[in-house]
Amino acid sequence: MDIWLDTTDIQLVHKAVKLGIVAGVTTNPSLIAKANRNQEEIVDDLLHAQEGPVAIQVLATDMEEMVQQGQMLYSLSNRLIIKIPLTQEGIESIHLLSRQGIPTMATAIFHPRQALLAALAGANYVAPYISRIEKIGENPWKVLQSISHIFHSYRMKTKILGASLQTIDHLLQCAECGISGVTVHKELFDKFVESEEHTLQAVQQFSLEGEKYPFLFAVK
Ligand code: E4P
Repeated sequence: MDIWLDTTDIQLVHKAVKLGIVAGVTTNPSLIAKANRNQEEIVDDLLHAQEGPVAIQVLATDMEEMVQQGQMLYSLSNRLIIKIPLTQEGIESIHLLSRQGIPTMATAIFHPRQALLAALAGANYVAPYISRIEKIGENPWKVLQSISHIFHSYRMKTKILGASLQTIDHLLQCAECGISGVTVHKELFDKFVESEEHTLQAVQQFSLEGEKYPFLFAVK
């Protein structure tokens, strides 16, 4: 399962690149607003900080503007993936962009029917919003399983990227569902890669015991 970073934080991207576990980066208008920096500059930094794709979301909500923004964004780099919220306008935008060879990610997915529509329209990715689905009282794992089942049944090439994750449990359940990837924010990424307490204790014990007999470890 690929790990994407849901961030505009370049330091975090550097950290994940060093660990060798970053497949790409996603952003959204809230993250750009929080960073309070020009979107184009952020995109440029994210493209330089890692080798994978960067998914960038259109701000417009009507079809013509969404397509126009998507085209303008894609002209910055062919490593960009255009994120389109899966509204009815979004379906048409995905269709038009995909016919121009512009890769898209249907975002803010809450229901399998939206994922099916996105795939039919030509989306390369669908991003179901795990914690937000939970918050509205629905079962995100049923949603994921349903999407996976539909895509698998019809051999659809659209990939599933679990988004809006809040916990390690969310991340592991996504992995158990066998989806293509997840996108994680900074706090979750830090928790994901932190050393496990019991592992640290085991290492300390090995060090203490081994250090009593250093000559046994000499490499000849
Ligand atoms: C996905 O690409 C979105 O940017 C993101 O995962 C939304 O997450 P949130 O619910 O934490 O805002």
